[in-house]
Amino acid sequence: MSAPDLDALVSPDEWERAAQQALDPAAHAYIAGGATDEITLADNRAAWSRLALRPRALVGVGTRDASIELLGRRRPHPILFAPTAYQRLAHTEGECDTARAAAATGSIMCLSTLATTSPEEVAAAAPDAPRWFQLYVFADRGVSRELVARAADNGFEALVVTVDLTLFGVRERELRQGEAHPVPADVASAAAAGVDGAVTPASLQALVDPDLRWSDIERFAAESPLPVLVKGILRPEDARRAVEHGLAGLIVSNHGGRQLDTVLSGADALPAIVDEVGDEIDVLVDGGIRRGTDIVKALALGARAVCVGRPVIYGLAVGGAAGVQRVIEILLGEFDNALGLSGCPVATELDRSFVTRAPWAAVQ
Ligand SMILES: Cc1cc2nc3c(=O)[nH]c(=O)nc-3n(C[C@H](O)[C@H](O)[C@H](O)COP(=O)(O)O)c2cc1C
Repeated sequence: MSAPDLDALVSPDEWERAAQQALDPAAHAYIAGGATDEITLADNRAAWSRLALRPRALVGVGTRDASIELLGRRRPHPILFAPTAYQRLAHTEGECDTARAAAATGSIMCLSTLATTSPEEVAAAAPDAPRWFQLYVFADRGVSRELVARAADNGFEALVVTVDLTLFGVRERELRQGEAHPVPADVASAAAAGVDGAVTPASLQALVDPDLRWSDIERFAAESPLPVLVKGILRPEDARRAVEHGLAGLIVSNHGGRQLDTVLSGADALPAIVDEVGDEIDVLVDGGIRRGTDIVKALALGARAVCVGRPVIYGLAVGGAAGVQRVIEILLGEFDNALGLSGCPVATELDRSFVTRAPWAAVQ
């Protein structure tokens, strides 16, 4: 196949279609699919569209500022790369290329526990990439402690403990297509857990502890040399617990619609969580962010930043580091444009007055 013309793909959806062409069908099913009827998968996107923007007129938008503050540090913009497992399924350079694109775009990359590249290799490939480490807590706590130590030693700045993969979601696309093939990989978590032979997403997920509790998270937060966030929160009561257990932040997320189907979208769960803890810890959101306007809406509802999952993998599948960079540049360009056209040129000044329930949102 001839190399794709990256500049010809102008919208995130075009990248998605190009990625489907580039990916092996089993890998595509693993990446693109969601749980059972994929109602939440679809709603993650639809929920952002159910919000309408309320632009402010004549405020002067010639100079715009996309920067935000996250965990006490200024960042040039609010996009993070969500942790996604097994990136060498999409491209031979996998997480190394994603890290290179993070460095090129000033984005924070969150490296998955189930990454196919070790924390050391990612740090060496892109020493300037801002990076966080995502932790699935394994039944063998020693493995998790080792991974945290290696992340801290290799310049990862925060720890994201994912709490919504206690069990593995029922993903019918994967059942139909068969499991994605093992790929040559340096899987730090598998090596630390003593898993040898073919490593697949399912073989790694089996190591995650289904009995994790808040007391475990509190212990991790107390022992961790890095600030700790939890990912996979959808209820304000759980957000309150995150504050009570000493966490630095949380990510409102339904795991990209891959775990429990028919749960609330990030967009719909976010406002109540911001109302509960938004003044106390950093609240981020993910799921279905595909447009600059989605980012404006997330910030207007009170998120500090957003995580982007599949679009990064699609960029990687189509064009390696350059592909990821291009996808993120498209989103950043749209975000800058939407800030200006919304009449809120300073990202941190977005508030709920800029959004309203869209008149076109179906009332059921
Ligand atoms: C292929 C794939 C692998 C994922 N692997 C992980 C993972 O290892 N750890 C994790 O916390 N979340 C994982 N997620 C969830 C993402 O971090 C994120 O919550 C989700 O993709 C956001 O939705 P979006 O893809 O619509 O942007 C994965 C998502 C996908 C699509």
